[in-house]
Amino acid sequence: MSAIIVAIDGSAASGKGTLAKRLAAHFDFAYLDSGSLYRAIGVAVLRKGGDPTNAAQSVAAAQTLDIAQFTPADLRTEAAGVAASQVAAIPAVRAAILQFQRDYAHTPPQGKKGVVIDGRDIGTVVCPDAQAKIFVSASLDVRVDRRIKELRAKGELVIEARVRADLEARDARDSGRSVAPMKPAEDAWQLDTSALNADEVFDLSRKFVASKIA
Ligand code: C5P
Repeated sequence: MSAIIVAIDGSAASGKGTLAKRLAAHFDFAYLDSGSLYRAIGVAVLRKGGDPTNAAQSVAAAQTLDIAQFTPADLRTEAAGVAASQVAAIPAVRAAILQFQRDYAHTPPQGKKGVVIDGRDIGTVVCPDAQAKIFVSASLDVRVDRRIKELRAKGELVIEARVRADLEARDARDSGRSVAPMKPAEDAWQLDTSALNADEVFDLSRKFVASKIA
């Protein structure tokens, strides 16, 4: 029997990661944060003193990616997010990790019967066959607020204008790139979380996913 696939796409700081983790725990599915793959590639290039917009350097990092070399703290910084969106705009980088994501989706670890994957192109490119697709959005102001709270909670020094500029630049790069741009799949349910808290987002999504996989 093939695995049940739940695709959660959306913009940076829209709350999709929190949602995806909670859905995976609720349905006892595996969870893959596809953004962490791009973040790891970006950080790998930076660690070598390279430039994440350089295709040759980024493709080499993607082809030799060892995710065990990175802690969550290494990957969750703003700098890692910016580097991720730079390497993610390079088509050969995306190609290098496409099969890994598809294999994970179709054969989740630990014999789980389903998987939740979050990213930008899961419903459109990686798993167009996903049974449930949610596209999560929120206004820029709300996302700036959420990201500032998240960074402060980690003790990072936060400059609001910088966070706003980084998010805007990432949105523009993620939506404007030629390959696998961020956009809702035609059959995705679009959820604007601007006026919702995390519990409300989870409850609505849980019901939606349950209706799709019943
Ligand atoms: O979701 P997260 O903020 O961790 O993603 C970091 C960056 O990785 C995004 O801004 C985007 O450029 C890239 N990404 C992508 N496709 C995905 C997941 C992430 O291009 N499926």
